[in-house]
Amino acid sequence: MKLENAKILITGASGGIGKALSHALAEQNAFLVLHGRNESQLEQLKASLPYPDRHQIIVADLTQTADRAMLLQHPALNAGIDVLINNAGTNEFAWLEDQTETQIERQLHVNVQAPVLLTKAMLPHLNKPALIMNIGSSLGSIGYPGYSVYCATKFAIRGFSEALNRELAGSGIKVLYFAPRATQTSINSDAVNAMNKELGTKSDTAESVAREVVTALQKEIKRRWLGWPEGLFVRINGLIPQLVDNAIIKQLPVIAKFARATFQKGTH
Ligand SMILES: NC(=O)c1ccc[n+]([C@@H]2O[C@H](COP(=O)([O-])OP(=O)(O)OC[C@H]3O[C@@H](n4cnc5c(N)ncnc54)[C@H](OP(=O)(O)O)[C@@H]3O)[C@@H](O)[C@H]2O)c1
Repeated sequence: MKLENAKILITGASGGIGKALSHALAEQNAFLVLHGRNESQLEQLKASLPYPDRHQIIVADLTQTADRAMLLQHPALNAGIDVLINNAGTNEFAWLEDQTETQIERQLHVNVQAPVLLTKAMLPHLNKPALIMNIGSSLGSIGYPGYSVYCATKFAIRGFSEALNRELAGSGIKVLYFAPRATQTSINSDAVNAMNKELGTKSDTAESVAREVVTALQKEIKRRWLGWPEGLFVRINGLIPQLVDNAIIKQLPVIAKFARATFQKGTH
């Protein structure tokens, strides 16, 4: 899709990837609708973009039915939307037995229920042609210890993307799935960053992820996994998961050290 003058709604625009993506899309001369929960952060972001007056902000907690309804009534959506990017997300890095029900429910709600409900409600507001991009994760294809709930949410959103894209074939709406690997944003706790360092897990900057998202939108790439070797592991895990079982189980003592230390320090 040509992004110049396209109207793009980005959820979670105030986060690490969301901000970088907002800058990258503004540089393509798109009109942005920046969503988040923190109004002053969104105002700052808007002011930092080229031609701030082209862009609008919407403050909403996507887990709240009333907030989603308010978002749908917002004047920013009056002329329709060309691209919806479901980017807002959250995670907890902890053993399942150490997570509270609230932490588990929040991940399921923010990462699955909210984008699915928002996408359904947005369908009548989408111009034709339109793109929906769902931001997944390499952990949407590879089950990883300490991320059982997060993996469940990202596996779900990958399945949702694939099924909906097939369902909407010929409608003028395409659904793309985009999966970053570890990216340097505040979603990752100090424990996660320390674990990644010890395991030699590579990470990307939010700016480099944003550039790849722009390319995926322009080329309408249906499924994209970022990074080497993560992209290869995704494919091997799909074909011969036993091989990946063994590689990850070798890492288990290190993963457990960081996942359980975070819990014990009470930082969750
Ligand atoms: N960073 C990584 O390593 C990585 C890797 C793979 C995939 N991803 C995915 O990339 C996406 C962006 O993550 P990020 O790294 O940029 O994380 P981030 O910096 O923590 O940003 C998350 C964004 O989601 C928003 N959000 C969270 N809960 C919300 C709710 N209830 N209602 C509305 N908005 C909510 C946050 O808004 P507030 O500012 O109001 O909290 C924030 O704008 C997520 O889907 C994440 O799963 C990240």
